Amino acid sequence: MEFQKLHESVSTMRVGTEPDRSFYLPRGPRGEVRRLDLSGEWAFRWFPDFSAVFSSGMPELEPAEFDRVRVPHVWQADGYDRHQYTNIRYPIPYDPPFVPEANPCALYVRRFPVSRAFRGMRAYLNFEGVDSCLYLWVNGVFAGFSQVSHSTNEFDVTELLHMGENTLTVLVLKWCLGTYFEDQDKLRMSGIFRDVYLLFRPEAHVRDFFVKTFLSEDLGSAEIRCETETRGDCDVTAALFAPDGMPLGEAPIAGGRVSFRLDAPALWSAEIPSLYRLELRTGDETISQAVGVCRREIRDGVVYFNGRKLKLFGVNRHDSDPVLGYAVGEKEILRDLTLMKRHNVNAIRTSHYPPAPKLVELASRMGFYVVCESDVECHGAATQAGQGGYYENYPDLAMREEYAPVILDRVRRCVERDKNEACVLMWSLGNESGYGPSFEAAGRWVKSRDDSRLVHYEGMNYGPKDRESDFSMLDVCSSMYDDFHVADEFCTKPGDKPYFLCEFAHAMGNGPGDLEDYIRQMLKYDRYLGGCVWEWCDHAVDVGRTADGRKKYFYGGDFGEYPHDGNFCMDGLVYPDRRPHTGLLEYKNVIRPIRAAFAKDGKIALTNLRRFTWSGEFAEISYEVRAAGETVFTGRWDANIPPEGTVTVAPEGPVPDTDGTLVIRYTAPRGDPWFLEGELLGFDELPYGAERAVPAPLAPSGRVRAEETPLAFTLTGSGFRYVFDRRTGLFGEMTAAGQTLLTRPMAFNLYRAPTDNDRYDRDAWETFGYDRPAVRVYSSACGTGPDGGAVIRCHLGISSVSILRILDVEETVTVTGDGRIEIAVEAAKDLRAPYLPRFGLRLFLPRSFDGLEYTGYGPFESYRDKHRASSYGVYASTVAAQHEDYLRPQENSSHWGCTALSLSSAGLRLRVGTGRPFCFNASVYTQEELAGKKHSFELVPCGDTVLCLDGDMSGLGSGSCGPRLREKEQLRDEHLSFRFRFTPETL
Ligand code: GAL
Ligand code: MG
Repeated sequence: MEFQKLHESVSTMRVGTEPDRSFYLPRGPRGEVRRLDLSGEWAFRWFPDFSAVFSSGMPELEPAEFDRVRVPHVWQADGYDRHQYTNIRYPIPYDPPFVPEANPCALYVRRFPVSRAFRGMRAYLNFEGVDSCLYLWVNGVFAGFSQVSHSTNEFDVTELLHMGENTLTVLVLKWCLGTYFEDQDKLRMSGIFRDVYLLFRPEAHVRDFFVKTFLSEDLGSAEIRCETETRGDCDVTAALFAPDGMPLGEAPIAGGRVSFRLDAPALWSAEIPSLYRLELRTGDETISQAVGVCRREIRDGVVYFNGRKLKLFGVNRHDSDPVLGYAVGEKEILRDLTLMKRHNVNAIRTSHYPPAPKLVELASRMGFYVVCESDVECHGAATQAGQGGYYENYPDLAMREEYAPVILDRVRRCVERDKNEACVLMWSLGNESGYGPSFEAAGRWVKSRDDSRLVHYEGMNYGPKDRESDFSMLDVCSSMYDDFHVADEFCTKPGDKPYFLCEFAHAMGNGPGDLEDYIRQMLKYDRYLGGCVWEWCDHAVDVGRTADGRKKYFYGGDFGEYPHDGNFCMDGLVYPDRRPHTGLLEYKNVIRPIRAAFAKDGKIALTNLRRFTWSGEFAEISYEVRAAGETVFTGRWDANIPPEGTVTVAPEGPVPDTDGTLVIRYTAPRGDPWFLEGELLGFDELPYGAERAVPAPLAPSGRVRAEETPLAFTLTGSGFRYVFDRRTGLFGEMTAAGQTLLTRPMAFNLYRAPTDNDRYDRDAWETFGYDRPAVRVYSSACGTGPDGGAVIRCHLGISSVSILRILDVEETVTVTGDGRIEIAVEAAKDLRAPYLPRFGLRLFLPRSFDGLEYTGYGPFESYRDKHRASSYGVYASTVAAQHEDYLRPQENSSHWGCTALSLSSAGLRLRVGTGRPFCFNASVYTQEELAGKKHSFELVPCGDTVLCLDGDMSGLGSGSCGPRLREKEQLRDEHLSFRFRFTPETL
């Protein structure tokens, strides 16, 4: 076949590549890696149209016609071609195996010397990752072709190299057959994006090996067994070293096998990742492999790891960087994994392809359970006819016999490369490709090749309706984004498979709002293996800064591409630059290693959630008793809780008689590998002592003068003048101590700048005009209270253009002689109107009111269903510092469960208190500004301090992809109310 056609060939998926093997870098006798690293500068030439340039062979090009790039890279990051973000839809016509002839592509040329030292050795050229495929020439001779972007392609180029100067020419195409199998939800990029190098090896060598460990039932002894396959004749000796480096023995490999027995083995787990080291030595070469001794099994539908019931609190991680794109190196990987460790994450799903080999190596070393996913996603088959027939079309490629070898090849490459890594808990057959015989066959192959790991594939749920699927080779029942009741139903029915949410809690924008509920449910059932949050990081492209220095990130649609899926790529727990979102802080605390709860006798029960570690090894436990948010007593407990065990403790000191909380902190001891001494691993917060006090009714003090016109009540008293607008039912003007408090009239507020998780509710809210409410006051009267204060009673309705009366409101406003105000509202909601994002008041104050103090859940943004990273306390901040800068602007930085708040400017403070907990946000931006702008760098402050006071705000949920916001988190009751007190104070 002409070289030009290989990338559309199903029968010839690769030419000239070596059989797959496990990943290793052999060393020479002096410990040196005999590797010629070819990363660095390459000559590069990009072409928009493959067939126009290459249909009749390789063009003659002058060196001057080449640019220079640094490999590994993706060419879009270097300014060639353009980025494209699509989720499900293929970026090309759905016509497998054909791809567009106008296929963007690039020629890479690299010259390098081969030294005499390598004479007589075999030379293997390794590409660890090339998107989407490569044609290879060595010194002008065609050497091969391969694909599968996220797998190693190794070519034996011994016969084509010579001593001295050599030339590699690599032609990389943007699209190939593989494009149909790599439809992962990500920014689409191309190029040689992982390491390229030559390995020089002796003629006879170990080609591949597979280390397996066997653990006795009582964990008291183990066997490490290694099977080897050699190329040519060579004697191999195996040497084993203990985790502390002590040599444990040597043995010759006989019949391709060697085995070591261990007594009282040090076991590998994500908590304690003890690694032995196995060396395979031929006279001339040594391969070193870290070996974790462990046992993974399922009994009665429960996953056990080293005999303990396992729970995964994981994340989905893509190779993604705002500058480097897919071309992340060790530094970026280590940064991700370190951050995960520092947020209590214990599992990683490598969505949706094998990661760089470094990641699995580091995961074994640092301790993570890994779900290693094959490079298979055919999601776009589902949308080949638009949304029509989505589920029927979904398994199209999975069902077609001709593609079974493609799927098997991809699954096999994933398993073969990483099979020696202790961290691999499960093999994943891929993502979202439907189900059919090809996946059944791939799964059977995995089971026959490696029975020590579990097999997972969520696509099991998408087989054709009229075919009875075989799931026998799948060990777990996997789903994504299931509603809570699904897990309950699954886990309470008998069955032999565990339940696993390979994706849950879609972390897009402000959210997820349901993490605590998920974790509680996971902890409730042994059969619930746990899950992985979707996803680790926001994907976006760093495109520099605005003129005023703000960071600019682009997402889908910003590159002028078609089709695109907007900002659906920004759904991570960290921003593209790895600053944690508040969602990650929330996750960290809901998966804290210890949990506290009240025991029956009123004492506190502390449960250690770790499976293998006594709490004394990783946590010190201290507590603080607070009253009204202020510390009254602190202490510590010397509890050492066994793995999965519980101990009870009791705080000393007085029990507060009002508004008490008990905060229990778990902090790292000295010498923790991930946390600094004293750093917080997590905390619990329990109500303690008497309930929050309900303040007495506002005692009037002094006389208020009231002037009445048909349009307004003007109230004056000592040092204030308030104008109550009889047409809005609220104050239009407020001055106290000679200062203006309101720059715009006070207003009722039902709307919030939609979060990404509101995306399916936004339409209904806007249809009902929650973003533009219209108030009609039916009656208003101003009277005098017992002590001479003013009391306004108002009956009003809130509706909007074309829309019925959403709320029928009875309002009582009290103003005291010393200038205090109380606004009490009772509302009846028309149940035909959708749930309200929020219900409260909005005030615009002069921007000089920047000083903020509040008693409530802080210091992070907090919501009724996302406040576990925050603690109830007294916080001081500024309005300017409140804004949480989501890359697509949206509602942010509210504080939940507040009992007091004040805003101050020079000389004046406005205190807001209330009879019961409320929420607020204080911002320099209006909700309209946040709702209207597509990028954070476009936001313009409104010039005022915007204070939203909410009797309540609906929860956040994770409905951007997960289940819809649950009713318990919605503001949907027929009866809604709030009450706010305002006290201006001169300073
Ligand atoms: C899942 C998919 C992920 C991602 C997510 C939405 O269906 O597996 O790749 O697309 O939804 O962000
Ligand atoms: Mg998908």
